[in-house]
Amino acid sequence: MDQYSQYDLREDDPYLIEGSDCLQNLLGFTDTKSLNHAEEQLTQLTMAELVADPVPATFDLKHLQAIHFRIFEDVYPFAGQCRQTEILKGGKLFLPHNMIEQVSTEVFTELHSENLLQGLAPAEFGKRAGYYLGKINMIHPFREGNGRTQRVLVDQLASLNNFALEWAAISGEGMARACREARTTDPDGTALQRLLSLHTVLPSSR
Ligand SMILES: Nc1ncnc2c1ncn2[C@@H]1O[C@H](COP(=O)(O)OP(=O)(O)OP(=O)(O)O)[C@@H](O)[C@H]1O
Ligand SMILES: [Mg+2]
Repeated sequence: MDQYSQYDLREDDPYLIEGSDCLQNLLGFTDTKSLNHAEEQLTQLTMAELVADPVPATFDLKHLQAIHFRIFEDVYPFAGQCRQTEILKGGKLFLPHNMIEQVSTEVFTELHSENLLQGLAPAEFGKRAGYYLGKINMIHPFREGNGRTQRVLVDQLASLNNFALEWAAISGEGMARACREARTTDPDGTALQRLLSLHTVLPSSR
């Protein structure tokens, strides 16, 4: 597990089991290591199910919430719900939770104004998808599970355009670094643009 995989601990975090550093969950686990292990196994299945039976692709906050619900409905009581608390990684706060709706509207309105990136060549599509991934990651609407949820949304965006993304070829560390830069020093997500541009392919070449 890399150094970016967990949020900073906050004692007043309402999503933790009282007196513990483990997230409340529907699986009955009281320690983070066991929870993470089971969660990872289960979500591999739910994410595969989402490929076969996707949620309606509306490309807005409700879309992200619907994906999160489907991935995590058997794991977290907050599946599909936007966080009601602040979260940090490496001492840096993500977007204040009371701004999630407003900033999501801005980001997704911009995406729709680009016609959902239709008509672009693969590398150009990857760049714009990387830009939007950085914006969505900056919002971090959920208490846990943002990475998987946003990748499914970007997959649906790629699929609409008859492309696919080779996520497996991008290391977790490389993705985390590029995401961190996009929310701090590099608001246009240049590193994410480059990563996704390199890994946008035609589905048949996967
Ligand atoms: N310091 C950081 N700043 C911004 N984004 C970060 C940082 N560290 C990690 N990330 C990104 O946050 C996302 C992980 O969020 P979260 O843990 O909520 O979701 P997940 O589904 O468990 O993650 P994963 O992407 O590891 O499957 C990943 O996309 C990762 O690249
Ligand atoms: Mg996580």
